[in-house]
Amino acid sequence: MSANSSGRDYDIVLIGATGYTGALTAEHIAKHLPINLRWSIAGRSSRKLNGLAARLKDLEPDRLQPVIEIVDVEDKIQLTTVIKKARLCISVVSYHHVGPLVIEACIGGGTDYIDTAGTIPRIRQWIDEYHRAAELAGVVILISCGAFSAPHDLLTWSSVRELEKSSSLKTKELILSVLKMPSDPSGGTVESMMMRGGVDAKVQYESQQPWYLSPITGQLKSSSTNLFGARYDPTLGTLSASSLSDVQNRAVVHRTWGLLDGGKAYGPNFQYSEYKKASSTLAAMFQMLNTMAIRLMLALSPLRAIAAIVLPVPGQGPDPAKERSYQFEMEAVAIADTNNDSTAPRVYSRFMYPGGPYHATAAFLAQGAASLIYTRKLEGGVSGGCLTPAFLGQDLIDRIQRVSTEFSTKML
Ligand SMILES: NC(=O)c1ccc[n+]([C@@H]2O[C@H](COP(=O)([O-])OP(=O)(O)OC[C@H]3O[C@@H](n4cnc5c(N)ncnc54)[C@H](OP(=O)(O)O)[C@@H]3O)[C@@H](O)[C@H]2O)c1
Repeated sequence: MSANSSGRDYDIVLIGATGYTGALTAEHIAKHLPINLRWSIAGRSSRKLNGLAARLKDLEPDRLQPVIEIVDVEDKIQLTTVIKKARLCISVVSYHHVGPLVIEACIGGGTDYIDTAGTIPRIRQWIDEYHRAAELAGVVILISCGAFSAPHDLLTWSSVRELEKSSSLKTKELILSVLKMPSDPSGGTVESMMMRGGVDAKVQYESQQPWYLSPITGQLKSSSTNLFGARYDPTLGTLSASSLSDVQNRAVVHRTWGLLDGGKAYGPNFQYSEYKKASSTLAAMFQMLNTMAIRLMLALSPLRAIAAIVLPVPGQGPDPAKERSYQFEMEAVAIADTNNDSTAPRVYSRFMYPGGPYHATAAFLAQGAASLIYTRKLEGGVSGGCLTPAFLGQDLIDRIQRVSTEFSTKML
């Protein structure tokens, strides 16, 4: 909890509770956070909030039920009043439209904040505008704590730490391979993707740079993919440079790198590389073509307009029962920074969530909030600022493991 937020009405206020991700997050809180947690579900539609509250009561009748707060985020007085009642705010609003208003209210109100924003140019704007103010206020603004980019950031943090503990060596590269990533998007995600396509071309280009969100710049040193976008790793097998989230996750992981002791904690030559697992070089080529087609569709406005017609609109998403039946899985190796890559010590790590990415996002948001409320042990000795999921370190890993997530790290 930030220094001046004790004695508030709520431990958590969930803003955007009526949206697709918001409702799943509310359900995760109801099922898994302590039954005496004091919490509120907030939004602008009392009809939707009442419906959600009734569902939550049916789900867990014996716990403290959430209080309904009617708030239109664009009404500053309503927003600041609600934010000041809580120790922490989970924000799952449409970030493009009203995201910064919630952050400003949290910094002003001394209320810690957590979200699942993933659009890199927007996150960079928030860092430029709010990082210093949040540091000074001792308020945590924890960004991207969802299916993107929390597991990637935590696997990296955990692997780097294990490598240093076991071999006293820093890390040269973390190679992450996405094994299973269902791709049924929610309306909010579709809207974010469409907005990305509309970002100014110069900003779009700059935001692809690996250290765009980091306070310092590193260097890409590792060998990358071949002509066909494929790479072979002795531990992970054949990989293709076709992960749709690689740029976003890399920017977040590199922010963690840059914030932790100016890059020295992970090592001065560290870099993060993300791929998708491929069964063969030919399969890797097809995966690349598929990813290029999706990127093209998002870049060209006539194709975006067609996609907008067939994809879900804000508030909608995949059938929650179907989403629950998916699996979201990845593995990674951390390679020590030595003169010889082939003999360098390695750490292998693995993450598997028994549900789709939206259920995983709900789990990360709720468990990240619990970590901030009940433990608030931040890596690097910081007390506030625009931070990344790895700043919650082992405490968040332990919490996410307790809700059936597989998360393991071992020396090879
Ligand atoms: N990076 C990740 O891992 C990840 C994962 C999941 C989602 N996301 C992101 O999370 C965001 C939400 O996604 P979603 O699919 O859950 O969206 P959604 O279903 O459209 O929900 C948006 C929520 O924002 C609320 N809202 C919008 N304007 C508001 C205002 N002025 N005042 C109060 N509430 C307002 C909506 O309220 P109403 O119900 O009243 O309209 C709704 O509750 C998107 O930006 C998406 O990209 C990221």
